[in-house]
Amino acid sequence: MALLEFRNVSFAYGALTVTNNVSLTVAPGEALGVIGPNGAGKSTLLDLVTGFKIPKSGTILFEGTDITRVSPQRRCDMGIARSHQIPRPFGGMTVFENVLVGATLGGQRAEGPATRVALDVLEQTGLMGRANDIAGGLRLLDRKRLELARALATQPKLLLLDEVAGGLSDMECQTFIALLKQIRDGGTTIIWIEHIVHALVAVISRLFVLDQGAELAEGVPSEVLESAEVRQVYLGVPA
Ligand SMILES: Nc1ncnc2c1ncn2[C@@H]1O[C@H](COP(=O)(O)OP(=O)(O)OP(=O)(O)O)[C@@H](O)[C@H]1O
Ligand SMILES: [Mg+2]
Repeated sequence: MALLEFRNVSFAYGALTVTNNVSLTVAPGEALGVIGPNGAGKSTLLDLVTGFKIPKSGTILFEGTDITRVSPQRRCDMGIARSHQIPRPFGGMTVFENVLVGATLGGQRAEGPATRVALDVLEQTGLMGRANDIAGGLRLLDRKRLELARALATQPKLLLLDEVAGGLSDMECQTFIALLKQIRDGGTTIIWIEHIVHALVAVISRLFVLDQGAELAEGVPSEVLESAEVRQVYLGVPA
């Protein structure tokens, strides 16, 4: 059974269609990459998975259950978590406290188990040395790490990543690639939106291309990136 399935999903702001009849299936354990020009509707796609936005039409299934109109909190409990394009930490709290919130609320855990999960995630994401720092003062790499850590702390089945590598140096990007490979190999299903294509293809096994809210192409990353349509729309290369 698919972990996630979109069936003819559409979303619009008034007359502006942002998600146009998208159908998509993600298997358990798969790592799917999503690319597309600015404004193509990539972040909106993740909002529809988390329940932050509700489709105008179509159906979204998670482990075979219709979640199209299920609340974001309930979807989090079911095992869906995301990192945002612009990190959204609780700026006045420490790094540890931020991760603890995810570990506590995400899985409805008691304090003891939540603390253990939070410490594991800090270790995994390389943030242990920053545990007592105030989140609002972190540099970009650590803010990105924290954004990922907060999502991981809910111990999701499906991890949604929105441009986690954006703005990082090459070296920092390599750190993230290694981390995401580890998460993938641990069995977590990943959907990753990323403009840094070389980072993306190091982790994912399938690529989905959105253009003006609709699917433009889908399949093996190397083949999708070579297609004339994708090169024209996404990379600006004349067909
Ligand atoms: N609140 C809103 N009201 C109206 N239009 C909106 C609103 N939020 C987003 N949009 C529009 O919806 C479209 C899709 O936005 P979305 O953020 O999903 O794109 P994206 O592919 O993630 O872009 P980017 O690569 O810049 O992150 C864009 O045209 C955007 O301008
Ligand atoms: Mg976006």
